[in-house]
Amino acid sequence: MTQPARILVVNGPNLNVLGTRNPEVYGAETLADLEARVRRRAEALGVEVEFVQSNHEGELVDAIQRARGEADGILINPAAYSHTSVAIRDALEYAELPVFEVHLSNIHRREEFRHRSFVSGVADAVLAGAGPLGYELGVEWLAERIAAR
Ligand code: DQA
Repeated sequence: MTQPARILVVNGPNLNVLGTRNPEVYGAETLADLEARVRRRAEALGVEVEFVQSNHEGELVDAIQRARGEADGILINPAAYSHTSVAIRDALEYAELPVFEVHLSNIHRREEFRHRSFVSGVADAVLAGAGPLGYELGVEWLAERIAAR
């Protein structure tokens, strides 16, 4: 029997306070709600998900490096590090896995400094503004992409 595909779901800084953080921008769901939603979708698709959230850039880099060889794809909301982190971009490149970049809000409709993401240059797909559903769509896209290998 073939192993189910493994998807690492990475959430960057300040996403641990979803639900109370700017609900008018990020919605009312907590990170736990979001993870439960992703887990349900993953189960329906027959894929495994592992979650990592950190407010620390190096911890995110470590988790992404470990994904090489341990996971089959990465779903990432790099949050504020999208706009600043060459280190996370480089780690994603090193991982050599399909990468789906997701943002809850439409970063292109917000402040100018959010319009550029360093991660987008190494992502295979990017989705911004679909809220928590964007994570579910990301898992579905990765599941298909991994199955097509
Ligand atoms: C975000 C958008 C980023 O600009 C912001 O710093 C975040 C969340 C989003 O999901 O909409 O923390 O990535």
